[in-house]
Amino acid sequence: MVNIREQRKWDHVKKTIEAGSKRCHFYDDVVLLPDSSSLMSYERTDLGCRIFDKSLSAPLMINAMTGGAKGLERYNEAFAIAARENKIAMAVGSQKAGITNPELTDTYKIARKINPDGLLFANLSALESLETMKKAVSMIEADAIQLHVNHAQELSMQEGDRDFKEILKNIEKAVLHLDVPVIVKDVGTGLSRKSAFAFKHIGVSHFDVGGYGGTNFSEIEEKRMNKESSALSEIGIPTPISVMEVKSIEPPGYIFATGGITDAGQVIKSLLLGADVAAMAGFILMHYEQHGTDSLTEKIADMISEMKKIFVILGIKNLQESNAVEYVLKNEVREWVQQRIPVRQER
Ligand SMILES: Cc1cc2nc3c(=O)[nH]c(=O)nc-3n(C[C@H](O)[C@H](O)[C@H](O)COP(=O)(O)O)c2cc1C
Repeated sequence: MVNIREQRKWDHVKKTIEAGSKRCHFYDDVVLLPDSSSLMSYERTDLGCRIFDKSLSAPLMINAMTGGAKGLERYNEAFAIAARENKIAMAVGSQKAGITNPELTDTYKIARKINPDGLLFANLSALESLETMKKAVSMIEADAIQLHVNHAQELSMQEGDRDFKEILKNIEKAVLHLDVPVIVKDVGTGLSRKSAFAFKHIGVSHFDVGGYGGTNFSEIEEKRMNKESSALSEIGIPTPISVMEVKSIEPPGYIFATGGITDAGQVIKSLLLGADVAAMAGFILMHYEQHGTDSLTEKIADMISEMKKIFVILGIKNLQESNAVEYVLKNEVREWVQQRIPVRQER
């Protein structure tokens, strides 16, 4: 018998595929200025970086999606192959299902089996117990754990959480007692400066901004219940703005940009605004579903190659030189920065 959690995971995969991957259009308000006096060559560009002490060929990640129901292992298998072949990071989807039903652990473990040396993150709700978090980390020998905060999604779900009062206490316990780093991860509503401060105050160093403009889980939950879209699905801080909000608190660790990232230009803009890694979910799922594992691997390789070409056009060799890149903020993004982040970030 398929339980409600397994059914929900399948629904999420199917509804995302039905809706198609969403591109966060707020990135169009960030305009990169080319350097026509650039002396760079493609061969000399280097996108390599070290995140949590592991080397990546580029600051890219396949974000948390699957595992957690029979038949979903093929997704994590494909994502892990694409991550290994391109030497980028990956997170598995929420592991609660695998912890309550040991028959499902292989749907997550496959990601570690395929990519034994890769940078791999565990994933759970920030409301889970410390014991559950420890099990999630050990299940896949995770390098770090993402704890997701998703109030809007939970409130959109009939069976979702309604009470979030333990969140800060719970995350603080995780930071203090887990052996791996904790990443607080929003899922589509975007972390604000205020929320990032609250998390930093309890010891959180690493943030996945989970901005607005990409996969919208309130909308997906409403579709699951055959309901019209509600006001909940319209609340959110667009991804590039959320990156700037979080950067403005000067977090001691890494910032991951997620939410509607589908191309190399958006990745580079995220890095220039302050992110250390850009992550994608819906786009990866769609590409795999339509074209299979080999094509997904190639698609990511193409994206990395395009990033290198953009580096040449911008006149920079590596990420350390990104401070030298000029950009202009327009329209809504500019208005946000004027109202919320008056002093442009030192990058
Ligand atoms: C099918 C699907 C399942 C997801 N499951 C999880 C999950 O279990 N835990 C989590 O933190 N985020 C989950 N996410 C959210 C993604 O990690 C990501 O934050 C979100 O989709 C925004 O990125 P995107 O616009 O590139 O899709 C899921 C996304 C999709 C598309």
